[in-house]
Amino acid sequence: MTYNIAVLPGDGIGPEVTNQAVQILKEIGKIFNHKFNFTEGLIGGIACDKKQIPLPLETIELCKKSDAVLLGAVGGPKWDKLDGENRPETGLLKIRKELNLYANIRPAFMYTALKKACPLKNEIIKDGFNICIVRELTGGIYFGNRGELYCKHGKAAYDTESYNEKEITRIAKTAFETARKRNKIVTSVDKMNVLATSRLWRKIVESISNDYPDVTLNHMLVDNAAMQLICNPHQFDVILTSNMFGDILSDEASVLTGSIGMLPSASLSDESFGLYEPSHGSAPDIAGKNIANPLATILSVAMMLKYSFNLSKEAECIEASVKTVLDEGYRTKDVYSEGTKLVNTEEMGSLVIKNLRTNNL
Ligand code: IPM
Ligand code: MG
Repeated sequence: MTYNIAVLPGDGIGPEVTNQAVQILKEIGKIFNHKFNFTEGLIGGIACDKKQIPLPLETIELCKKSDAVLLGAVGGPKWDKLDGENRPETGLLKIRKELNLYANIRPAFMYTALKKACPLKNEIIKDGFNICIVRELTGGIYFGNRGELYCKHGKAAYDTESYNEKEITRIAKTAFETARKRNKIVTSVDKMNVLATSRLWRKIVESISNDYPDVTLNHMLVDNAAMQLICNPHQFDVILTSNMFGDILSDEASVLTGSIGMLPSASLSDESFGLYEPSHGSAPDIAGKNIANPLATILSVAMMLKYSFNLSKEAECIEASVKTVLDEGYRTKDVYSEGTKLVNTEEMGSLVIKNLRTNNL
């Protein structure tokens, strides 16, 4: 089988980490006899520099005719002065909308080998945690009306959040389906004591839950959820939440795994088309130094194999290889602790590649 993958390296550490993930896919292709074709496209700051817009039309077309998209990261201080429409991040939001990638899946679990890198106390993480955040990705405050105006107090600005029944229904279904394949608990996170969107959210999630009697549903306010993630992460299975809350909670969850450099993500539309990217940003401070952690991106291509190409065995091979490398004590700088072996981005990629074959024997 041949799979066509659009690769959008983007800015900062994006090119370094996507390069490692592409090497992994090439090796998977050799081991399992698949052909992966890669075509690069521009997005983010580099697109602003070369094409004067953060998401050129040819990038959208490339993604639409591909079987899946691999993305690095966008943004950096160089483009911080640009106005909203022209910011690198706008390119990312636009590609999510253009490709209808409404379901963002962000799994955060603890590798035993990385226990030391987790900022929580030992007694809290003794049972580990395994959380899957299902974040709505093409609606809410990220896409509502926004603007600036003048009022009697001077300049003012506003952003608006709106959610409709269709948007909430489809993401709720994704969460319940995801929970069915896991521990069968959905925690829906909202702010219903204040927000109208959250009240509608809760009502619709309740009604969808009737179709999933085997899955337990509970609700949690977002401020409490932020706290519960710290004091009892073990209680969560699937967290279902809006675009904005999911953005915040997924960074919080990621750092529990030891480093934001560990957290992969899949952004899915209907019919298993998806864009895969690490949950972390472009990390301009360490860009070009060959020290970034490529594992979030490597684990993102494992998600690509599983969700878009239905290649579970191949995905598991990558996941097992990552686990072996961590068990053997290899660490990039972000998760390094005394007594472990410090490696750079390329070395980490090569170690995962080396173990792919071993794990498949
Ligand atoms: C993420 C990022 C993006 C978001 C930014 C870069 C626009 O933080 O994917 O979590 O807020 O969605
Ligand atoms: Mg974020």
